[in-house]
Amino acid sequence: VLQLTLAVIKPDAVAHPVMLEALHQKILDNNFVIVRCKDLVWRRQDSERFYAEHSELQHFGRERETASYGRFFYQRLVEFMSSGPMRAYILAREDAIHHWRELMGPTKVFRARYTSPASIRAQFGLTDTRNTTHGSDSVESAQREIHFFFPDFCAEEWMEKE
Ligand code: CMP
Repeated sequence: VLQLTLAVIKPDAVAHPVMLEALHQKILDNNFVIVRCKDLVWRRQDSERFYAEHSELQHFGRERETASYGRFFYQRLVEFMSSGPMRAYILAREDAIHHWRELMGPTKVFRARYTSPASIRAQFGLTDTRNTTHGSDSVESAQREIHFFFPDFCAEEWMEKE
């Protein structure tokens, strides 16, 4: 099935034009349709709100592990994500969520280098925080995150047109 996901190129990667271009090309090479794309800078409160929202996954009874709010790296993460420009995409493809996460590789860079040396994070990631990219991890978080970055976007309308 055709699926939408939210992908973000984080400030560490956007800071390097060659890396940004390589990542953009990677999206095109992997048969994603770029539905929306925008460059933006988060204020600190945007960053806090995004990762606090993430933590609400807990209330749906899942993913305690991936919730960032309250974890030891939360402050570091919030600061990093509001440290400079980033690029957000809505991507479409069959099984988009899974395919984008597969391309990124594991969150932790050392693990990425070990288990998936061809992945984005293995190739470009600097640390577990500065790990170049983000991707939604489920249909529910894709919906929430797409709405967070692109409040005017209507998925139903877009699907109808396709
Ligand atoms: P992402 O999966 O996009 O969203 C949560 C983020 O937390 C993750 O990327 C990393 O950027 C960040 N993070 C920082 N430190 C850690 C860590 N030790 N383990 C997992 N994620 C971390």
